[in-house]
Amino acid sequence: SVAPASWDSPLAGKVAVVTGAARGIGATIAEVFARDGATVIVADIPAAGEALSDTANKIGATALALDVTAADAAERLADFATERFGGIDIVVHNAGITRDKLLANMDEGRWNSVINVNLAAPHRITSGLVAKGVLKEGGRVIDVSSIAGIAGNRGQTNYGASKAGVIGMVDAESPVLAEKGITINAVAPGFIETAMTAAIPVGTREAGRLMSSLLQGGQTVDVAETIAYFASPASNAVSGNVVRVCGQSLI
Ligand code: NAI
Repeated sequence: SVAPASWDSPLAGKVAVVTGAARGIGATIAEVFARDGATVIVADIPAAGEALSDTANKIGATALALDVTAADAAERLADFATERFGGIDIVVHNAGITRDKLLANMDEGRWNSVINVNLAAPHRITSGLVAKGVLKEGGRVIDVSSIAGIAGNRGQTNYGASKAGVIGMVDAESPVLAEKGITINAVAPGFIETAMTAAIPVGTREAGRLMSSLLQGGQTVDVAETIAYFASPASNAVSGNVVRVCGQSLI
């Protein structure tokens, strides 16, 4: 039978965490979740300070200064969410960084920092939250991959590897989380207009835009609405998927 849909607030009663939410795609994900009725925790590095509290205040969310790479990140997040809201229903691993260099100059520091933030942290936090029983039956994990993890970009061996790794991780975690009634999916955005892409050299930036059949960059809301679907009851039976969000991708 078809359950009645609550179109106004499909996430009512849900506690959602968005990492890297001070600005860009993460801030818009948090805004869409708040619109959909969720109780939202926005997390970002301590240096994000004022930007994070501004994002939180704008949408009535709760801010948490949290570096996702910290060894105790899962524990801190679990304790914070449990004390205030009794647990977590939805976690979006959106925090991400680039440290681009062509192959010859791709030093260990750049490699490790990108792999740590983009790939190791989501894994550590998901497994930590599940092990602690904070993410329960009906829970949702949504990872942010990238089109750069499907088709490589020059200068992004670290970033491409981390985002391809996210896809492999989602595939592998899906059947395990299914045993606990938790879904996991990923989005692979194309070129989205944010501070991250504004920092890309102009030629590469144009090439990024041209990877979409719309021949222009996407907006943060395009990604956020797809993530909202993975968070909503409409996707109860959907797990282990990667959805490209980049206009109609030419890749
Ligand atoms: P952004 O640079 O505007 O925002 C990223 C946020 O993550 C920042 O607020 C930053 O402080 C935070 N962050 C960085 N390291 C962190 C850490 N260790 N702990 C907690 N927070 C941390 O980037 P944007 O464009 O909004 O990207 C968001 C996600 O989407 C990233 O995972 C990125 O790789 C991914 N993505 C972005 C695309 C784009 O075209 N903008 C395309 C495909 C994927």
